[in-house]
Amino acid sequence: MSARRLPLMCGIVGYVGSQSALDVVMAGLKRLEYRGYDSGGVAVLSDGGLAAAKKAGKLVNLEKELVERPLPAGTTGIGHTRWATHGGPTDANAHPHLDNAGRVAVVHNGIIENFAVLRAELAERGHELNSETDTEVVAHLLAEEFSATADLAEAMRLVCRRLEGAFTLVAVHADDPDVVVGARRNSPLVVGVGEGEAFLASDVAAFIAHTRSAVELGQDQVVELRRDGVTVTGFDGRPAEVHSYHVDWDASAAEKGGYDYFMLKEIAEQPKAVADTLLGRIDPSGSLTLDEVRISPSELREIDKVVIVACGTAFHAGMIAKYAIEHWTRIPCEVELASEFRYRDPILDGRSLVIAISQSGETMDTLMALRHAREQGSKVLAICNTNGSTIPRESDAVLYTHAGPEVAVASTKAFLTQLVACYLVALYLGQVRGTKWGDEIQAVIKDLSRISEEVERVLETMEPVRALARTLADKDTVLFLGRHVGYPVALEGALKLKELAYMHAEGFAAGELKHGPIALIEEDVPVVVVVPSPRGRSVLHDKIVSNIQEIRARGARTIVIAEEGDEAVVPYADHLIRIPATPTLLQPLVATVPLQVFACELATARGNEVDQPRNLAKSVTVE
Ligand code: M6R
Repeated sequence: MSARRLPLMCGIVGYVGSQSALDVVMAGLKRLEYRGYDSGGVAVLSDGGLAAAKKAGKLVNLEKELVERPLPAGTTGIGHTRWATHGGPTDANAHPHLDNAGRVAVVHNGIIENFAVLRAELAERGHELNSETDTEVVAHLLAEEFSATADLAEAMRLVCRRLEGAFTLVAVHADDPDVVVGARRNSPLVVGVGEGEAFLASDVAAFIAHTRSAVELGQDQVVELRRDGVTVTGFDGRPAEVHSYHVDWDASAAEKGGYDYFMLKEIAEQPKAVADTLLGRIDPSGSLTLDEVRISPSELREIDKVVIVACGTAFHAGMIAKYAIEHWTRIPCEVELASEFRYRDPILDGRSLVIAISQSGETMDTLMALRHAREQGSKVLAICNTNGSTIPRESDAVLYTHAGPEVAVASTKAFLTQLVACYLVALYLGQVRGTKWGDEIQAVIKDLSRISEEVERVLETMEPVRALARTLADKDTVLFLGRHVGYPVALEGALKLKELAYMHAEGFAAGELKHGPIALIEEDVPVVVVVPSPRGRSVLHDKIVSNIQEIRARGARTIVIAEEGDEAVVPYADHLIRIPATPTLLQPLVATVPLQVFACELATARGNEVDQPRNLAKSVTVE
């Protein structure tokens, strides 16, 4: 395998205005470091020249470099923070990449699939390429096209037409010092418009401290930023319509706000996030008003199957949604990992409703799954947390979660709000199809409206969970068991622990224990058990109590999550974590929270990076 470094999930910032470009770009990169953190770099235009700095490792390395070797002052600049899939990060592979004359600088997110051919052509024409990246070819091609056109936007359009793959590109040229140019194909890029200044970034978080006025960029579009405005065209040069929107959260939402980690802050924000996601979706009579779901009630009445596609934590939300959708609407519901979906030729048609769940709205596996579904004539409803991102833009309808920016790589508040959105969709389907009475829907909504307070109560009682986590820091394995909706919760608990504590953690359906996993139980292995409410289907509760006894008899250390008042579990719980009583289907909203806290504390106790776990990126924009 080649040692070539592929820049896959990166953060990009561009700026032109009257402030120090370096300050604006570096602050923006810090906000985007969650997208990639194996190297960083900046380029600034100054006095007719171009100066760049780049460094392997976290941004702090780049900051040190800039102190030791300061760049000249300038008001136009670009920057990049990078995440790569294989090979060692080096200064040479870090972005920006420059042409041989050092006049053009480019940063890139994505993959240029035909880079080898382009590189060979450039070499033949005498260009010297100094890195192992695909990005560098773009700098050289831009330099060539600019020398012919003297127009950076036109040069970018000409280059983009020759590129294959998925890419966001942002470039500056020393001979056009008042312009930053960006291009987008299958990779995120948003524009911020301020007074006498403009911004480009992979995520609005990078410029939200300066402006909340944003512009969406469509597929295959090039944007030219100047101090007095932005111009958007297609790769073919035709002017494009500009869609502006207002970002409804502010800079403080993207700060740590006194917490040690974004993850802790985001866990603490869950009561508000849950409440916000319900906001405006229930009319005074208690009925659901999901006006933003642009699929008409008559179309929803025609649906004969729901298919949910998602990845990771969002997939777990989808697994839970299946229980609610089938129970409340009696429509068959499948849940599938987005990365597997299109490869098995799923049976879809115009009567299938596909729900794509994604916090970032940029996950490539989910995007490809929804494109496949639309090609088969199915309607796609996105459940997404990121306004204007690709997944909602390419869907027929969207229900936004209102979690606010989620920065920590480990998803927490996004998960809870995805669950709320899924419950709302399930109830809405029940409402329009008449499978649930109005008063039944109102009863569930009432329960949902109380959940925010219940989550708050869970958060107030987390100290024993943290203390327990610290005592388990030297364990190798933690297992998680659940039944019914507790099963995806167990999977989610295990995923959190894997990604944050780097421990062997597995989630099982408790009924599956005797079919194999029980062989993993040995003396003092911690096993977290999510116990269903005894007030729900008692058979579920009784069966899991038996499962706890089985594992305890084999030496497991049982960590039992059970609702207040459930006394049946007490004799078998080495550690008991109480959660408020909720209706069975809503229990994941409270049962997941201790598992998030548990994983976060264990990661801290093991000295791991909580917000930026190794090998991971927040937004996975390749398949
Ligand atoms: O942005 P998305 O919701 O589409 O992301 C999907 C997964 O990559 C994500 O949930 C991932 O599993 C989280 N890091 C888990 O905490």
